[in-house]
Amino acid sequence: MRVLVTGAAGFIGSTTAELLLSRGHEVVALDNLSKGRFENVPSGASFIEGDCGDEELILKLGSFDACVHFAARIEPAQSVTNPEEFFANNVGSTFSLTQALVRSGVERFVFSSSAAVYGNQVEMPIGEDRLPAPESPYGQSKRMVEEGLHWMAQSGRLRAASLRYFNAAGGTRAHPERHVPEIHLIPIALDVVLGVSDHLDIFGDDYPTPDGTCIRDYVHVLDLAEAHILAIEVLDVHPELVVNLGSGVGYSNRQVVETVRKITGVDFDVRVAARRPGDPAVAVADIARAQSLLGWRPTHSALDAIVSDAWAAHQLTN
Ligand SMILES: NC(=O)c1ccc[n+]([C@@H]2O[C@H](COP(=O)([O-])OP(=O)(O)OC[C@H]3O[C@@H](n4cnc5c(N)ncnc54)[C@H](O)[C@@H]3O)[C@@H](O)[C@H]2O)c1
Repeated sequence: MRVLVTGAAGFIGSTTAELLLSRGHEVVALDNLSKGRFENVPSGASFIEGDCGDEELILKLGSFDACVHFAARIEPAQSVTNPEEFFANNVGSTFSLTQALVRSGVERFVFSSSAAVYGNQVEMPIGEDRLPAPESPYGQSKRMVEEGLHWMAQSGRLRAASLRYFNAAGGTRAHPERHVPEIHLIPIALDVVLGVSDHLDIFGDDYPTPDGTCIRDYVHVLDLAEAHILAIEVLDVHPELVVNLGSGVGYSNRQVVETVRKITGVDFDVRVAARRPGDPAVAVADIARAQSLLGWRPTHSALDAIVSDAWAAHQLTN
């Protein structure tokens, strides 16, 4: 297949591009480098520096068997203060992209959606049929794209899979998790281990959870990458898919901290800071649909394996 990967200089996009290449596919890697790092782009891919919302550029790239669309701004807190940037980049650019893809005859589109579409749910695990209730412009931007894709799929213009990732984590040595700013617990903790920062903040320890800290579902980026390839294939039989991707198991912030201490062998300073608005107490995926529809199994996503791989990758980038 010839596959367009947007956001290919980012964490999940670069890992997926690498996996596609290793399976013998041709990858055109597009990124505007607003957040990603050029060195993340796999050497076997053809790299195009540009914006996914640039329709003329996309049209010039020719046709593809599929597009996997990772490019987006990803910081929920920043989206609350600058919502217009998130809607322009995550929604506006995406619909310019889909317009160009339809004009180029591209039929399969895999979209990086997010558990953020669910907002603050009480009952766990969260299945795909749960009513979306995003609590940030970031989550709303993902939901708006899902809704647009639904209509495109209904009209037969584009086959679309919306993959709702829970907490992407882990990493490989070639493609470590490195966001700017970093907002994810495991790489922030690893920075403290390495002395890049002096302590780790946990946001709130008075949630209704066994140890009072938030519980999240971590999924290894290698498992995510695999799910994208499966989704491309399954779009041949299903014109529209909405699928959760998680491990199906939740870990509290404190459990993650303990795992980081165990894997690295380093104790470090952890402080409790104020809760962040919009943070749900618990977010754990029901992954039955991913298993049945995609035939997907998160084989790399045990927490110890995630932290070990993240640690191995993280040390190389400091
Ligand atoms: N990391 C997670 O835990 C997580 C969870 C749920 C969903 N997601 C989604 O997965 C996708 C990838 O996330 P990531 O963690 O790899 O983020 P990332 O920031 O590492 O990668 C995103 C990439 O997109 C690029 N980009 C942004 N806007 C662009 C545009 N308009 N045109 C071209 N390139 C653009 C950035 O430069 C960056 O390289 C995002 O859509 C994100 O919302 C991530």
